[in-house]
Amino acid sequence: MAKIKIKMEKLSKIYNKGKPNEKVVLKNIDLQINDGELVAIIGKSGAGKSTLLNIMACIERFTYGSYKLMGTEIGGRNEHDLCRIRNERIGLVMQDFALVEELTSIENVMIPLDFSKSGDSGSEKQALKALEDVGIADLAMKRCNMLSGGQKQRVAIARAIAAHPGLILADEPTGALDTITSYEIMEMFKSLNKQGKTVVIVTHDPKVAEQCQRVIEISDGTIIS
Ligand SMILES: Nc1ncnc2c1ncn2[C@@H]1O[C@H](COP(=O)(O)OP(=O)(O)OP(=O)(O)O)[C@@H](O)[C@H]1O
Ligand SMILES: [Mg+2]
Repeated sequence: MAKIKIKMEKLSKIYNKGKPNEKVVLKNIDLQINDGELVAIIGKSGAGKSTLLNIMACIERFTYGSYKLMGTEIGGRNEHDLCRIRNERIGLVMQDFALVEELTSIENVMIPLDFSKSGDSGSEKQALKALEDVGIADLAMKRCNMLSGGQKQRVAIARAIAAHPGLILADEPTGALDTITSYEIMEMFKSLNKQGKTVVIVTHDPKVAEQCQRVIEISDGTIIS
C-alpha cells in the first residue's frame, strides 16, 4: 500500500480571526497526497492555492483541523520544531525565486544547508552537486542578479533539493518563464519525481497541470475536484 506523505483533515485557515476584516481562506480541506505522487494544484487567483502550499510547507499556520506530514502532526508545534521539519523534509520553490540577488548561485544554495548544519564544510560540495543536478554548475560563482529568469529558477530548485528532501513544493514555478524554459523546468520536476520525490506544483498553466498525475482544483478555499 502507498505510504501517505500529506494528510489534511477538515483544515481551515482564517486570516484576522474575530476582527472586522476576518477572512476565511481555506474551508474544511480534506486532502491526501501519497509518497511519489506528482500533483498540480490549480484554481483562480485568490482561491487559496499559495495559502494551502505555504501551510504544507509549514511556513504558515492553519486555524482548525489537522495536517500530518509523514505521520507527524504539524498543528500546535513551536517555531523551532517547524523549522527543523521544514529543513529536513521539505524543499520549497517560491513564486518569485526568493533568491538573495547580491549573493552567488552557490551561496544561495548553501543558505538552508548552513542553517540546518551550522556551517558544515560539506555544504559547499553538497550545494555544487545540487547546481550540477539542475545543469548550472558553471554558474556557481555568478551573482544571481546577473542571471536570466530560467537560470534563477534553476538556482531556486537547486536550493530546494540540496538537502535531499522527500517533498518538493513549488508555487507557480513556470509563471515568469517563456514556453521553452517552462518546458525545461517542468522536465526537471518530472525527473525529480521519477527519482522518487513527491512533488506538488501550484500553477495557472493548463500545460503544466496536464503533465501531472493528479490535478487538485480549489475554488474559494474549497477543493472542488
Ligand atoms: N496575510 C493575509 N491576510 C489577509 N488575507 C490574506 C493574506 N494572505 C492572503 N490573503 C487572502 O487569501 C486569499 C487567498 O490567497 P492566496 O494567496 O492563497 O491565493 P492564490 O490562489 O495563491 O492566488 P494567486 O493565483 O493570485 O497567487 C486571497 O483572497 C488573499 O487576499
Ligand atoms: Mg498564489
